[in-house]
Amino acid sequence: MKFSDLRFHRLIDQLPGALNSEIVHSVGTPAVTARPDNCRQLGECSELASNDRLSALLAAGLMYEAAKLLGHRFTIRHNVIKGRQLGRQLGFPTANMKLSADIPLRNGVYAVRFRRADGGLFSGVASLGHRPTIEANGVQLLETYIFDFCDDLYGEPCSVSFFDYIRKEQKFDDLESLVSAMKRDEAQARTILRAARPVGAIDTATCF
Ligand SMILES: Cc1cc2nc3c(=O)[nH]c(=O)nc-3n(C[C@H](O)[C@H](O)[C@H](O)COP(=O)(O)O)c2cc1C
Repeated sequence: MKFSDLRFHRLIDQLPGALNSEIVHSVGTPAVTARPDNCRQLGECSELASNDRLSALLAAGLMYEAAKLLGHRFTIRHNVIKGRQLGRQLGFPTANMKLSADIPLRNGVYAVRFRRADGGLFSGVASLGHRPTIEANGVQLLETYIFDFCDDLYGEPCSVSFFDYIRKEQKFDDLESLVSAMKRDEAQARTILRAARPVGAIDTATCF
């Protein structure tokens, strides 16, 4: 079944306002939502209704636990915006998104999968934060370095699915140290994503 043919878990319908509008895969087809084996995979179905629990997991960077709760990876979708484009010079061009401030995601670096509007799926590593090495008081951005990718994404609605939290954002003394850290992040994200297995049928359809 194609990604574009699927609709997803009804749990998302119960999330409040802005969270709701920024999470993709949000509306369940009866076929997916009502699957009894899906409920069994998730264990306690009552957990499905707990937005507080999801928020606590996201704030703690516990992305695998959040995925188990949802039945799929926590995913946001946004249009890609233009950054300062310093990333290109550093060898780490990024697809940038501005998230709503009320998404309770922990700042830092994540192993992610990135899906384009045309359905193309890529692995990557993303940083959510304020880039303290580069600027003072920068706005919070989600910046995704997409592996083995070269194309213009500006204005395209894309989604980022979070697999694992890697580290906190840091203020480095120089750009060289930042680039070294990003190289380590890339290696770690590749290892995480190679080993990742779906948490259920919806996850398989969306992130694998
Ligand atoms: C994997 C990764 C890790 C990052 N880690 C940090 C960090 O720890 N500290 C920081 O100041 N910026 C960090 N950044 C953000 C970079 O500073 C930013 O991507 C770079 O300045 C280029 O941004 P631009 O292309 O939007 O200009 C990270 C970016 C990526 C992709």
